Amino acid sequence: MTPSYTWPIIANDMLKKLETIKAKALDELKHIASVAELEAWRVSHLGKKSELTGILRSVSTLSPDQRKAVGAFANDVKGMLEMLYKENLTAMKEQLYEGMETAAKGEKFDITLPGRPVSSGRLHPATQMLREVCDVFASLGFQVAEGPEVEWEHYNFDTLNIPADHPARDMWDTFWIDHRNEKGERHMLLRTHTSPMQIRVMEKTKPPVRVVVPGKCYRYEATDARHEAMFYQIEGLAVDEHITFADLKGTLYEFARRMFGEERRVRFRCDYFPFVEPGVEMAIDCFVCGGKGCRLCSDTGWIEILGAGMVHPQVLRNVGYDPEKYTGYAFGMGVERISMLRYGIDDIRLFYSNDLRFLKQF
Ligand code: FA5
Repeated sequence: MTPSYTWPIIANDMLKKLETIKAKALDELKHIASVAELEAWRVSHLGKKSELTGILRSVSTLSPDQRKAVGAFANDVKGMLEMLYKENLTAMKEQLYEGMETAAKGEKFDITLPGRPVSSGRLHPATQMLREVCDVFASLGFQVAEGPEVEWEHYNFDTLNIPADHPARDMWDTFWIDHRNEKGERHMLLRTHTSPMQIRVMEKTKPPVRVVVPGKCYRYEATDARHEAMFYQIEGLAVDEHITFADLKGTLYEFARRMFGEERRVRFRCDYFPFVEPGVEMAIDCFVCGGKGCRLCSDTGWIEILGAGMVHPQVLRNVGYDPEKYTGYAFGMGVERISMLRYGIDDIRLFYSNDLRFLKQF
């Protein structure tokens, strides 16, 4: 309720001003037709720079009894305007929805039409294959471990029987990290294979060991239909008493049978890796030419998918295992090569060229 105007001049002025503000705001509200106009009205009468807020701020300069009366009236006006703002906003929103429904009934658009399907992402084909291969080995009793992509020369080469002057280092052209040891030598690199994890796992575990290690590898080499500078490998390692080459062959045959079916032919040939003895490469007959020879298999009829062998006694010694007591086998396979075989992909570069037409097929 408005107090009577028998007050000292400043307080009376303020009360009159409040009456004017209230009347003006109520009058303007009658002509408001949109949410945007209502918002402008709110800012003008209730905003930080509004007259009402100014009066509320200066109430503190009045004497206590004036302050009480002017403050109470100013707060009444403010409360009333805020309430009107909320009521009008709710009413306007309701009207808006009703309008949309009416428009829908008038068949401006058909709200019963099914929405456009939201396209969900999927795993990269290499990741899918990585998981599938790990599942096969998990079902054969292998654990899964992961390790660093930025690796010490010590693990990538030295402890795998590949010292600095060993010619085998030429097999793995390397991206070195520009970080030097106290002798000024570079000793950190992007791992060229997943084999360093053989050492890391054995250093931390006592036999028996059965582990597969999926992960990215990097090689400083020219790309072609079968080679990328970055690709995935899966390493396998089994160490225990009495493990023989027959266990290695049996495990890899079973893997090939589950991945590619009974009809695929598998070939083992001698190969050289300094950290195994004897060493082999395993190849599968080329899916494109059926073994006759083509561009993909470089006219050999076979595609190499992995290197393997019996863990070298010196590697076992390097991690503190007794090679008289324990033997083991290891293998390392290219994951994209497995996908290529499975799906008939004839160029590895498709995996990382980000062409959705390729990626969406998986
Ligand atoms: C190695 O990397 C050994 N660490 C494998 C190994 C592990 C041998 C354990 C013995 C015991 P290799 O360089 O051959 O070997 O590579 C293994 C597999 O990785 C190849 O068979 C191939 O499938 C894949 N691979 C190698 N280089 C590339 C490349 N540039 N692009 C795509 N895949 C590749």
